[in-house]
Amino acid sequence: MIPIKTKEEIEKIRAASRIVVQILDVVIRSIEPGVTTWELSEIAEKELTRFPGAVPAFKGYRGYPASLCTSVNEAVVHGIPSRSVVLKEGDIISFDFGVLMGGYYGDSAVTRPVGRVSKKARKLMKVTRRALHKGIEQMVPGNTRGDISHAIQSHVEGYGYSVVREFVGHGIGKSLHEEPQVPNFGNPGEGEVLRAGMVMAIEPMINMGGWEVECLDDGWTAVTKDRSLSAHFEHTVAVTEDGPDILTLP
Ligand code: MF3
Ligand code: CO
Repeated sequence: MIPIKTKEEIEKIRAASRIVVQILDVVIRSIEPGVTTWELSEIAEKELTRFPGAVPAFKGYRGYPASLCTSVNEAVVHGIPSRSVVLKEGDIISFDFGVLMGGYYGDSAVTRPVGRVSKKARKLMKVTRRALHKGIEQMVPGNTRGDISHAIQSHVEGYGYSVVREFVGHGIGKSLHEEPQVPNFGNPGEGEVLRAGMVMAIEPMINMGGWEVECLDDGWTAVTKDRSLSAHFEHTVAVTEDGPDILTLP
C-alpha cells in the first residue's frame, strides 16, 4: 500500500525538505576548483547544526558513512566524500542530501559545474533537470507511476542519453524509502494509480553513454561502466488535487 499523507504531514515533509534545499544551496555556493568533497560534506554537516532537531538522513543508512553524497563526473550516485577527491575546473558534481525532521524525511539532489565545463556536460545537466520536471508534470491524481517513468525516459533518450536502471525514485515520508518504487524508465499507464496525498522523491540518473553502472571498491560509489559522464537531479514532490507540489523548493 502506498501511504496517503494528510495536509499536515505534507507540511512536515516540506519543513524537512526546506532544510535540505537551504543546505544544498550553501554547499553549491562552496564549489570551487581545489575544494575537496570532504570539505563540502563538512560544510553540509556544519550547516545542519543551525536547524535544531534536524538529523542527516543518509548517515548510517545501511552503513553509508556520510551525510552528503558527492558524485563527481562518471560517478552516478552515492559517492563518499573524501579528502583525496579534489574538484577541478571542468568537473561536474552531483550532491544528494536528505534530512529527517519532526518524524518526516525530505530528499533532493542536484548536479552542478565546477567552473567552466564543456558544452556537452552542460547539455547533460540541462536535459536531466528537464527530464525530472517532465516526470513531475505527470504527478496528478488519476495518472500512473508509469506515466512519470515514461515521461523521463522518453525525454532523455531523445538526446541519445541513457537511463540508469539500478537506482530508482521512491515514496518518502515517515521513512526515507517507501512504496512505490519509481523507475526512470517504463510505459504509460503501468503501475500504481496516483492519488492526492502520495509523496514521492523523483530522481533521474542519466548517463551520456550506456546505462550500465558498477560499484567501486568502497562498496558505495556507483560509476558508469563506460566511464561516461552522469547527472542526477531529485525533488521530493506531493501529488495534490491542484497538481504536483514540489516540496524541495526554497
Ligand atoms: N537519494 C538517494 C536515495 O533515495 C540517496 C540515498 S543515499 C544513501 O536512495 F547513501 F544513504 F543510500
Ligand atoms: Co532519493
